[in-house]
Amino acid sequence: MQTKKSMHGAWANRWMFVLAATGSAVGLGNIWKFPYITGENGGGAFVLVYLVCILLVGLPIMMAEVLVGRRGRESPMNSMRDVALETGSSSLWRFVGGMGAITGFLIFCFYTVVAGWVLYYVAGMGLGQFEGIDRAGSEAIFTKLISSPGTMIIWYTVFVVLTAMVTAGGVNKGLERASRIMMPLLFVLLVVLLGYATTTGSFGESWHFMFDFNFDKLTWGSVLVAMGHSFFTLSLGMGTMMAYGSYMGKKDSIGSTVLMISVLDTLVALMAGLAIFAVVFANGMNAESGPGLMLNALPVAFGNMPGGQLFGFLFFVMVAFAAWTSAISILEPAAAWVVETFGLSRKKTALILGIIGWVLGLGALLSFSTLSEVKIIDMTIFDFLDFFTANILLPLGGLLTSIFVGWFVTPSISRDELALPKAWLYVAWLFVIRVVSPLAVATIFVAQLVEKFG
Ligand code: TRP
Repeated sequence: MQTKKSMHGAWANRWMFVLAATGSAVGLGNIWKFPYITGENGGGAFVLVYLVCILLVGLPIMMAEVLVGRRGRESPMNSMRDVALETGSSSLWRFVGGMGAITGFLIFCFYTVVAGWVLYYVAGMGLGQFEGIDRAGSEAIFTKLISSPGTMIIWYTVFVVLTAMVTAGGVNKGLERASRIMMPLLFVLLVVLLGYATTTGSFGESWHFMFDFNFDKLTWGSVLVAMGHSFFTLSLGMGTMMAYGSYMGKKDSIGSTVLMISVLDTLVALMAGLAIFAVVFANGMNAESGPGLMLNALPVAFGNMPGGQLFGFLFFVMVAFAAWTSAISILEPAAAWVVETFGLSRKKTALILGIIGWVLGLGALLSFSTLSEVKIIDMTIFDFLDFFTANILLPLGGLLTSIFVGWFVTPSISRDELALPKAWLYVAWLFVIRVVSPLAVATIFVAQLVEKFG
């Protein structure tokens, strides 16, 4: 009886962590961003580099972040400081946590814009606006949306308010329960979408596009985007996984949990990509159409499959939900930092961050219309935030984290926290986190700079 009870308790804990961390990882990055950057970077070879980055950079760094969080049991900043002090290193490491809070805030600004688009499509699907729609009709709807700031601001505001409400601590419990239904349902609907994709006549083409490794199109720029995305999609490089790791049970295995989260996350991305490209090719759409790819393609699929109005509505609800559970985690390091530094309540913190985020995000929102002429290094505000956070700030945060955990945290601590089932697994992890991950990130940074300016 005794053992049964405690085993059950441990299970519930682990499940919660897996749920929260998967909720954070699976989001717009998988369904919106992965397909559009794969399209822009020529498919196959890019996907391969992305998968290698998940394995050699993402997975080991996620383990590192979770172990620091679980050891420190505080906000990312303070966890880093405490673990640094415990190992006799400088407390300056806390600034890596601080950098993460700022990075998260910048991601929040454009992430919520895309989430606002998704809410608009939830409504559109619900109202049956996409019934029998073709390529031209679908593209016209998206173009109209991004050139209508008023409409966008409404849905954007709804999303920011929803996120801030959870940050304030209001609907947290309900959200955890809802995740248990929404996440599996998202998966099921992706299978439905894939089923439809096989009937478009272009599934084979989509498969070849994603998995034929054609290295001609691969530049260092694409490699950088693939690496950056491995951070973005696994919610790494800014402390999210540290924050979530701090709630993880002491006995739970970090390695197998992290593996499970990465596999689920990657599966969702690959499924979304396969389905979207089948629709893109079947309808003669352009794979390189950028951030609008998903929203141009999917309405055509749902508009023309049997039961598509219902499936489409449910699908966009799930995507919105996935975006919601991710957005919360993007804001969390900043929120934890404000609460700890200024001693404000969660409610006030959520209100202040929500308002500042909303105002700054307007810049990204308007960069599709009113502010489309404003360019930062040749990019619109939206594109710049997307590029700069995912491809520079997150890998930089990850690089510093891997150096910290690999070289400064004493092996006795990391071995104890990871408790890997085989000794050689720990040795392999230590080698990767010390040498392979930092070197990979640094090499890709330098190669990209040389390619651009050399
Ligand atoms: N991983 C999420 C997605 O793919 C986005 C996200 C959540 C994120 N938390 C993060 C990205 C922390 C970077 C860092 O949609």
